[in-house]
Amino acid sequence: MSSTAIVFDPEAGLGTREVTLRPAGPGEVEIEMRAAGVCHSDLHIVSGDWPTDRPLVLGHEAAGVVTGIGPGVTSVRPGDHVVLSWFAPCRRCRKCVAGQGWLCTGTKAVANTLPDGTTPFTEADGEEVWPYLGLGAFTDRLVVPETAAVKVPKELPFGIGALLGCSITTGIGAVVNTAGVRPGESAVVIGTGGVGLSVVMGLALVGADPIVAVDLSPERLEAARKFGATHTLDGARDDVAAWCQDELGGVDYAFEAIGSPKVVETLPAMLTSGGAAVLVGMAATGATGSFDLFDLADQGKRILGCNYGSSVGELDIPKLARLYLAGRLPLDDLIGKVRPLKEAPLAFDDLRSNTGKRTILEP
Ligand SMILES: NC(=O)c1ccc[n+]([C@@H]2O[C@H](COP(=O)([O-])OP(=O)(O)OC[C@H]3O[C@@H](n4cnc5c(N)ncnc54)[C@H](O)[C@@H]3O)[C@@H](O)[C@H]2O)c1
Ligand SMILES: [Zn+2]
Ligand SMILES: [Zn+2]
Repeated sequence: MSSTAIVFDPEAGLGTREVTLRPAGPGEVEIEMRAAGVCHSDLHIVSGDWPTDRPLVLGHEAAGVVTGIGPGVTSVRPGDHVVLSWFAPCRRCRKCVAGQGWLCTGTKAVANTLPDGTTPFTEADGEEVWPYLGLGAFTDRLVVPETAAVKVPKELPFGIGALLGCSITTGIGAVVNTAGVRPGESAVVIGTGGVGLSVVMGLALVGADPIVAVDLSPERLEAARKFGATHTLDGARDDVAAWCQDELGGVDYAFEAIGSPKVVETLPAMLTSGGAAVLVGMAATGATGSFDLFDLADQGKRILGCNYGSSVGELDIPKLARLYLAGRLPLDDLIGKVRPLKEAPLAFDDLRSNTGKRTILEP
């Protein structure tokens, strides 16, 4: 049976292809995709920020239903609802053994293959098409590593589950895990798209104050206020570092959720002594930045990298799902347009234009 997939091909660009899926092998799980969010990390591929030499089925922020399991799979069974984690840990490397799966050095996800180095997708002419981040969720059915399929309660809506697969877990994790923000500490968040709004939500959850949101889009800033931002600034007009120093004596944390080297370079000047800049946005491959090194050393300022919100998918995704189901996280307000899968190019336009909220694709 063939399925329609949204593929980025380095030669042909973004398009729709018919692919066939092989059955789940050992340690693999077959999923029927129900909802997939469109994240800027998909757009980084389409825009060429992160070059690929192979055609990729895009999509890495998704939820669905298990339809089959390969030999040896024990953590899920057919019928289970799952959120897909895009950084499937190997569970064997030093970082995994130490409980730091987000730093796994053995994962094949970033090589865009399944753990055994293969792809489950083939075109009619036999050409292999590869799963972005080991998932490739912009299609009807996919095969993923068992460690990427995180079981969640059946009452969790699939759209919310999809966003738990990337933006929400990354954004809230950046606050709770990477930075460890405590009640009453101050923070600025630059870039309030799907990830940045989740950072704002995480800051509100832990009782940070004040929470300053910065974006170019008034609509996004209004959403940030709804999620708990106490102040909003216009990234094109306002001098954010001067404002943070003048009004607050510097902030404890500055989160960047864009991936802009220019913006990242401005973060340390927003901080109070001992503060930390948290790099949540992902820059283009090879991008570099420069900092005032005396200021960093003299003021004890820190720069923290943040992969997947320093989260362990199997622990953190169900935890956030429970908080949502208990009414503690207003995640419904993150969802913008819901489009059919074939409208993926329009969904990328939504993302490029910085309007609306997170677009969800449904098969
Ligand atoms: N660390 C991780 O593990 C991880 C996970 C997911 C996404 N990301 C990265 O996070 C970044 C954000 O992803 P997203 O899906 O939220 O993107 P998005 O496009 O939805 O949001 C980006 C926001 O930044 C704003 N912006 C752009 N330039 C700005 C500027 N100069 N000043 C202020 N605001 C500005 C835009 O208006 C937009 O609202 C991307 O780089 C993505 O690859 C990282
Ligand atoms: Zn993402
Ligand atoms: Zn590992």
